[in-house]
Amino acid sequence: MAARNPKAAPAVEENLPQPRRSVAFIGSECYPFVKTGGLGDVMYALPKALVKQNCDVRVIIPRYKCIPEKYQEKMVYRGAFSMDLCADGKSFYVGIMEYVWDGVVYDFIDNDEFFSWGNPYTNLVDDIPKFCYFAKASLAALNYLNWTPDIIHCHDWQAALVPVFQQAMFGGTPVAGAKSILTIHNLRFQGIYNVETLKYWTNLPDALFDYAVLKQNWVDANMLKAGLSYASIITTVSDTYAGEIQTPFYGDGLDAHLRFHNRKLRGIVNGIDVEQWNPATDALLSANYSEKDAVAKKRENKLALQRELGLEENADKMVLGLISRLTDQKGLDLVNAIIPNVIDGNTQVIVLGTGDRKYEDSFRYYENAYKGSVCSCIMYDEARAHKIYAASDAMLVPSLFEPCGLTQLIAMRYGTVPIVRETGGLKDTVQPYNEFTNEGNGFTFDRYEQGLLLDAINRAKTLYFTDRARWDEMVIRDLRKDVSWDSSAKKYRDLYVELKP
Ligand code: ADP
Ligand code: GLC
Repeated sequence: MAARNPKAAPAVEENLPQPRRSVAFIGSECYPFVKTGGLGDVMYALPKALVKQNCDVRVIIPRYKCIPEKYQEKMVYRGAFSMDLCADGKSFYVGIMEYVWDGVVYDFIDNDEFFSWGNPYTNLVDDIPKFCYFAKASLAALNYLNWTPDIIHCHDWQAALVPVFQQAMFGGTPVAGAKSILTIHNLRFQGIYNVETLKYWTNLPDALFDYAVLKQNWVDANMLKAGLSYASIITTVSDTYAGEIQTPFYGDGLDAHLRFHNRKLRGIVNGIDVEQWNPATDALLSANYSEKDAVAKKRENKLALQRELGLEENADKMVLGLISRLTDQKGLDLVNAIIPNVIDGNTQVIVLGTGDRKYEDSFRYYENAYKGSVCSCIMYDEARAHKIYAASDAMLVPSLFEPCGLTQLIAMRYGTVPIVRETGGLKDTVQPYNEFTNEGNGFTFDRYEQGLLLDAINRAKTLYFTDRARWDEMVIRDLRKDVSWDSSAKKYRDLYVELKP
């Protein structure tokens, strides 16, 4: 049974589901401290939702230098110790800084040598040692704090060594009894590096550098692969992606390994924090709205954003938004190929993203080529994202693969119609529009082809320009759709109870 932190989640109440479970979330980012994508959102929103499911949650993340000062100031020192890490006996300082907020305890692992960079991820040469250290330090911190969770819930490759260290090096310590869950948010990133380096930075026994655990090929070891072998349960962020990653195309080299372990693999779809993302209260919008006045107020938001971004001010233009990391995953080569066919005098495109140079440059080119109709914001900007979700008529998410995707969920919450490729979580969360029954939430296409994306956009345009009443009905359906964490947080909770009766 876990020792409870008095400042943590409220004591058991009668209306909360029983029994209570304690869970340590371990991952590399968490909004609002540090976020580069959806993982940061999930690490923030899911613990909050789990508190309502009678879970006592502690989130463990690195104390990066880039965490804003206003949060650094609120952290309280909980202690420090020295931890052995490397094969040559080299040990490292582990500090624990704590911040309690909204019923969730956040513990930041402090070490200047590893976490002094502005960005949480730099390059593998630095990231591999950093996350070997972080995984082991997180377990050591739980023991140090004398807080033994029922469940250790790890996220992505950066925390994948946690179940491995737990079983190989923490036997006989309090944390050894916890069950572990490893959630795959994105199989593209696995933490692969040469065996010798990983042997040095983990000091794990040679026997684990075997094809069933860490070994990937003659030269490399794979941290995610090892975590998948050792975790009690593997989850990923949608049902469809759970199936896809067992196939060669989506499996990124681990499909056979995942098929081997598939009895412990489940898909649980993500939600979003519907308080953080709420058009009725969002202070960043020009006009707040709900189901009753969404259609009119979205036009106001559109005009305000067109003015702010230097686009032609006209609420009758159809605005397509795209908010994304600019990487191959997101289907941006398809978008780039068809922009000239999309811009027709009645349509505008607003892009918000940073990433690969080739995409940043091509979107800049289009802004220049179609002045007044295309705006490319090559930046990371939370406030602008909120405005684009509210002002756009439709949101493009034509991903090559998408474990879950949050942008289509946020879009629907803001009454913005998603146009998505039927893959991963996009397939599970966006019901295609059916013109015969007037049902559905968005427009979809299946094969990864530019022509099919253009066709989906044209179907959306046709409805928008020729049957606005039905379009507006879809806007309201999207606003009403439940995209909260409620039902998925219950599924995680059931899993915690099933694992640790
Ligand atoms: P991924 O995690 O693969 O990047 P998701 O759709 O799960 O994709 O999550 C992306 C999250 O990051 C969303 O909250 C989205 O609004 C946000 N986001 C992406 N790019 C930007 C940007 N340039 N500025 C602000 N927010 C962004
Ligand atoms: C990853 C995936 C995205 C998912 C997010 C949160 O970054 O690319 O699809 O929504 O993690 O789980």
